[in-house]
Amino acid sequence: MGMKMLIINGSPRAEGNTSELVKQFIMNVGNKAEIEEICIFEDDIKGCKNCGACQRAVLKTHCAVNDDMSDLYQKFLSSDIVILASPIYMWQFTPCTLAFLNRLHCLCHSEDFSYNVMEGKRMAALITLGAEEDVADYAAKGLRDFCEFFRIDHRGDIRIPYAEKQRISSGEYNRKVKEFVGKIFG
Ligand SMILES: Cc1cc2nc3c(=O)[nH]c(=O)nc-3n(C[C@H](O)[C@H](O)[C@H](O)COP(=O)(O)O)c2cc1C
Repeated sequence: MGMKMLIINGSPRAEGNTSELVKQFIMNVGNKAEIEEICIFEDDIKGCKNCGACQRAVLKTHCAVNDDMSDLYQKFLSSDIVILASPIYMWQFTPCTLAFLNRLHCLCHSEDFSYNVMEGKRMAALITLGAEEDVADYAAKGLRDFCEFFRIDHRGDIRIPYAEKQRISSGEYNRKVKEFVGKIFG
């Protein structure tokens, strides 16, 4: 059976640089996976309120906060590969992207790892930014550390510095995108 890929697009701009990069990426993935892209900027995704409910055994995979994450948990759980697509805002992923990451905490009992439904999933990031590549280091390292801690198979990131939509759509980064796709499926 083919792999399922979930793309979480945390850009506020449906026609912006990140969304264009997602398009190029999807074209390169082709039929290697069944893909679903979700733009989360308009969604109601609150931050984790640290109530601890999810860390108690009875509430496995359940978050006490009732918002649009309920649906996204199901999509996350049924995916083999989860791609975060985000521009860099203030050296970080966008707030909605970070809220999404925060809320994944409920999928793992992080004190003893007796329960962890994130383990073994593949994750990677599509990043666009206005400055040079290194400016994304902080966000990219955050995701790498997140994956290491939660035992997720981190497949790296692709960064488009000095991002301009036309250059992305022209296929200028095609080789880079192809290499990245290779790392995800390799
Ligand atoms: C509020 C805000 C903060 C930003 N912060 C950074 C930053 O810290 N570093 C950077 O290189 N670019 C920064 N940028 C530029 C965006 O990352 C860049 O234009 C990106 O490609 C926009 O993606 P989009 O078209 O998907 O919205 C920022 C843009 C905005 C609006």
